[in-house]
Amino acid sequence: MKKFYITTPIYYVNDKPHLGHTYTTVAADVLARFHRLKGKQTFFLTGTDEHGAKIEATAKKAGISAKKFVDEIAANYQLAWDELDISNDRFVRTTEEPHIRAVQQALQYIYKKGDVYKGEYSGLYCQGCEQYKSERDLIHGKCPDHQVAPVKMTEECYLFKLSKYQAKLLKLIKADKLKILPAKRKNEVINFYQKEGLSDISFSRKNVSWGIPLPWDKTQTTYVWADAFLNYLTGLGWNGEVKNLKLDFWPPEVQLMSKDIMRVHATIWPAMLLSLGLPLPKALFVHGFFLIDGQKMSKSLGNAIAPSDLVKRYGVDGTRYLLLSAAPFGHDGDVSWQKFDEKYNADLANGLGNLVARVLTMNEKKLAGKIPEITKAMPKELEIKSQYQKLMADLKIDQALATVVDFSKHLDNYIEKNKVYKLAGTEAEKHLYILLEALRFLAWYLIPFLPETADKIFSGLGLEPAEEKEKSFDAAFCWGGLPKGLKIQKGEILFPRIK
Ligand code: MSP
Repeated sequence: MKKFYITTPIYYVNDKPHLGHTYTTVAADVLARFHRLKGKQTFFLTGTDEHGAKIEATAKKAGISAKKFVDEIAANYQLAWDELDISNDRFVRTTEEPHIRAVQQALQYIYKKGDVYKGEYSGLYCQGCEQYKSERDLIHGKCPDHQVAPVKMTEECYLFKLSKYQAKLLKLIKADKLKILPAKRKNEVINFYQKEGLSDISFSRKNVSWGIPLPWDKTQTTYVWADAFLNYLTGLGWNGEVKNLKLDFWPPEVQLMSKDIMRVHATIWPAMLLSLGLPLPKALFVHGFFLIDGQKMSKSLGNAIAPSDLVKRYGVDGTRYLLLSAAPFGHDGDVSWQKFDEKYNADLANGLGNLVARVLTMNEKKLAGKIPEITKAMPKELEIKSQYQKLMADLKIDQALATVVDFSKHLDNYIEKNKVYKLAGTEAEKHLYILLEALRFLAWYLIPFLPETADKIFSGLGLEPAEEKEKSFDAAFCWGGLPKGLKIQKGEILFPRIK
């Protein structure tokens, strides 16, 4: 059976999740659900990044132990993802014992191999990014993502021979052996390799106690990124053993992230894998930022919106929809409550939700709520399956979703064009069957995006959602799957209008 492994970044636990983290996670969820539907054996990993100077400092400020602090915030993330119907197969935390042991074993291997050596590192460190920055990265002397000036640091540490992997990685990236998507991002990475190049980096810290001690020198802790990257392996149950890697899902099909952490993922991460002698991920997909008034949403800038605030107003699926449709996947999206309200009302309350209610109500009035005789195939103009599949396979998830919303608009047009509301008898039966069966298709298209809504539509049609979803994706789209004689169950309004 074909496999599909997808990851999100593991998020820092210096604060609760906001819409930026939620966006990546919901997008990964959509892809994981789609590939499951397509019958692939799928593994979807997310989690939290819990070590490092930033988290140590935040816990100290809050006056609690680092352990207690990370436990609380990690639980917050898990709750948020549960609330949003995220179907991750595993939630990995970097403070888990097995992760710690695997990181130590992997680093020991890299050290023994000679890819890590003792030295001194000097540079401008941004604690927000947990990274050294070059002068070129700064705008008016500040880190553009965190709006603070990085601090000059000189430390005795162990360095990783990143430079050793420059030529090999550049070749792999150019040849799409490690795909970086969208194409614009690949060019940026190649530019970086060619203009700035890879220099050896500090791989440990002397003064950060909240971290994983290096196995060969316990006075130093592992650089937080080196620790964090390995989650993509330990999340699958990897124990740090390099020989005979037997991990069902390795390597990832696609790793999602935003542009803030693209460079480290396109340099340090694959270099570590080469050093360990392990296969590289097939693709990194880099999406844009969630912006508010043109500024990146982030805790440090104080403009963060919590996902639960959206859920309160728009429901779980309303929230998923608004995030996914906020921007073309890969581009920035400027959001506001007003835009969210308008889009929710236009596309969900007046659009999709209204269509479902309209068809079910007509069926109730004209045919006493019974599913009529199966009629001929769906009109050609309603055929979107191949387009939908292609968009999903190309990671154009916002466009796939827009195609589904358009499908519901086409159904509305169908009602108007055929004046179905005026019909009676066999003519009404014929057109209503087409509309009801099309609603079943609509629900199938919605499963990856709005899973709860899909179930409600199935139930509305008188189907048992769990039973219906046992069909394969291809079998689901065989015309006539909605059997005659079922009794529709008009439920609650799918998307109540926001005033
Ligand atoms: N812990 C590291 C990642 C380690 S992965 C081995 C980290 N954590 S983070 O909490 O800062 O998360 C960054 C990621 O969260 C981004 O790459 C993106 O996936 C998501 N987002 C956080 N803020 C965002 C926006 N404002 N907009 C879109 N996504 C953003 O970096």
